[in-house]
Amino acid sequence: MERLLISGGVQLRGRIRVAGAKNSSLAIIAAAALAPDRSIIENVPRCRDVLTLLEILRALGVRAALQDNGRLELDSREVSGHVAPYGLCRQMRASIYTAGMLLARLGRAEVPLPGGCVIGSRPVDFHIRGFETLGAHVVTEHGYLKAHARRLVPATFYVPRSSVGTTINLMLAASRTPGITVLQNAAREPEVVDTAVFLSLMGARVRGAGTSTITVEGARDLHGATYAIIPDRIEAGTYLIAAAATHGDVLIEDLIPEHITAPLTKLADAGVTVDSDPTGVRVRVEGALRPIDVDTAPYPGFATDLHPQCAAMLATVPGRSAIRETIFEKRFGYVDELRRMGADIRVEGDTATITGVPYLTGAPVEAVDIRAGAAMVVAALQARGETQITNVENLDRGYEALEDKLRSLGAQVQRIAT
Ligand code: UD1
Repeated sequence: MERLLISGGVQLRGRIRVAGAKNSSLAIIAAAALAPDRSIIENVPRCRDVLTLLEILRALGVRAALQDNGRLELDSREVSGHVAPYGLCRQMRASIYTAGMLLARLGRAEVPLPGGCVIGSRPVDFHIRGFETLGAHVVTEHGYLKAHARRLVPATFYVPRSSVGTTINLMLAASRTPGITVLQNAAREPEVVDTAVFLSLMGARVRGAGTSTITVEGARDLHGATYAIIPDRIEAGTYLIAAAATHGDVLIEDLIPEHITAPLTKLADAGVTVDSDPTGVRVRVEGALRPIDVDTAPYPGFATDLHPQCAAMLATVPGRSAIRETIFEKRFGYVDELRRMGADIRVEGDTATITGVPYLTGAPVEAVDIRAGAAMVVAALQARGETQITNVENLDRGYEALEDKLRSLGAQVQRIAT
């Protein structure tokens, strides 16, 4: 068990590079295991969810070596088991991607119903319906999703509600299913596009990723590929919001600015100066900030994964702001923790109303999930005094080298064992 100690009140200044996208990496690593071959994936972040997925794949017979520079060598010539390990899978939701991979590769999969962040009911009913549409027989029993199919068949599937995980899982399964599968109402997130590009390099023909209709022409003989993951728009957004919250001046290099247009627009509405060009994004705050209203939405809307961090920033913006959460009903786990630091936040239904207080005060708080943890960091950086954040393991699930990056921007951060 470790804690982060953050002494607040320092304006973040400087430049950083963001890591490769965690959510792309999870999908692309699972995709690579579809082929009995070797793949090289660059720009993989060394965060705990990635390490957990690699452990899951190792337990299934895949060999994986992640180097410090983010280069992952994956050898999936052998996939010997079809039962994914319970203890590892329940640590994160993306473990469900092994179901699509194993079903397509071996014709059967037994995958524990996934855990992950406690931010809503997060069922896997869409995944199951999708696999059934591709001809699989699926049951959930004893806490496992069990699927088998002598052979999957191509089909048209309407994703009932924009779902990143369902879209990716079905792209994986369809890529190794000869014939044309069509996914309607597909998620349009950049991580879906990244996965589609990788699957195409492996020999599937995936068209339309980034729109709501994706066509996958699957092939039995997929092969390994070499690919570099896109930059992490959520990590980038977290640092940009932290910079704004501390009235600092931060440049993020190596980011694809159009991936965070909606959050940048909201920061600009709040009075943050945003300079964005194809090479990166700089944010700085010169005057007072203004309250804003935010609705989270599927991409290209404002990402739910930036909601808690944005709330932490707004906690000290004079006036009344509101954030309406439309994706995950339990996203508000950060609220009680921010209140401990003096924030004035009221939650009614799907909306948090935030009345800006003059300042937050350091306090012991908990990182209840990845992005709630990031919100604690944003709050701690601007608070008076010292904040202790426990359950840092949740932050480590999604943020690589968090303290190093914050320190390079001037923050006073320490990690200590409890
Ligand atoms: C992914 C991201 C997560 C992000 C989320 C929304 C990964 C590893 N995680 O999560 O960081 O917050 O997208 O952008 O990429 N749903 C169902 N049944 C299902 C599947 C989903 O009801 O079978 C619901 C969910 O409860 C949620 C909504 O659909 O309300 C969207 O979820 P989804 O896009 O699938 O989220 P994840 O893929 O789990």
